[in-house]
Amino acid sequence: MKAILPVTRTLKALDGAVARFRAKRETVALVPTMGALHAGHLALVRLARKKADRVVVSIFVNPAQFAPHEDFASYPRRLSADVGVLGREGVDLVWAPDTAVMYPQGFSTRIAPEGPALAGLEDAFRPHFFGGVATVVAKLFGQVRPDIAVFGQKDYQQLKVVTRLAADLDLRVKVIGLPTVREKDGLALSSRNLYLSAEERVRAPALHRVLETCAERIAAGRPIKGVMASGLTALTRDGFAVDYLEARHAETLAPVKSAKDGPIRLLVAARLGATRLIDNLAV
Ligand code: PAJ
Repeated sequence: MKAILPVTRTLKALDGAVARFRAKRETVALVPTMGALHAGHLALVRLARKKADRVVVSIFVNPAQFAPHEDFASYPRRLSADVGVLGREGVDLVWAPDTAVMYPQGFSTRIAPEGPALAGLEDAFRPHFFGGVATVVAKLFGQVRPDIAVFGQKDYQQLKVVTRLAADLDLRVKVIGLPTVREKDGLALSSRNLYLSAEERVRAPALHRVLETCAERIAAGRPIKGVMASGLTALTRDGFAVDYLEARHAETLAPVKSAKDGPIRLLVAARLGATRLIDNLAV
């Protein structure tokens, strides 16, 4: 029978567990999450298992990346169910600090990422967001000291920000991105999908469909500006309040005018009722 999956909640316990892996010269992969795990998270875990001897999953709903009006208080928290699922996936350790462990009294440092974090996408609508993500991810890397860390392309701008963070601060972590896991109807899996009403859930896959249509048209040589404008019209008609729908350079996230400007990534954020959804797709 497999041993019970250890859940560490203090730095001392975490250090002890990681030291036992390191004593055996085992490599360690970290999968950072905010819990409420779904099949997208589990795909990250499976990739991590292929890439390293040991897999650590962190579960921490990070207050630093939520603005006061956002859903920090209502964000789904289901630690014991998550731990059960991770145990069945063969994860070796869960790191689940509470807020006082992550941000003890007197905590006074915040990382201010630039470059992809200032691309004018998520940052334009959630100005506090990438500072909070970069700070907690730098702390998670410092706490666990993994060899590799696995993130989802679902949060494409976040993946770029974290990749730069690791390189710029010499954190010695290899950041790996995993393609987005979707429902059969194309909707990207997200913990926030739980917020959708039955009727909104039926409409939600339009987000991915519109990205696909735009990507096909751009690949077929149609001018980007017109393609994106009709994508915006289609989403609005489907009942989305669109924050942005943009074609960007897939690596730098800089705006692109034509398909010749480099590999292109389409990125969207839109609200359906009270739920904000994001998605992205390669052209
Ligand atoms: P969370 O939203 O829980 O996501 C954790 C990881 O799962 C992220 O790397 C995210 O991109 C990935 N993920 C989510 N949905 C996915 C899907 N459908 N397919 C593939 N991967 C998916 O992102 C965060 O937490 C936080 O910002 C965090 C990085 C943990 C920092 O607090």
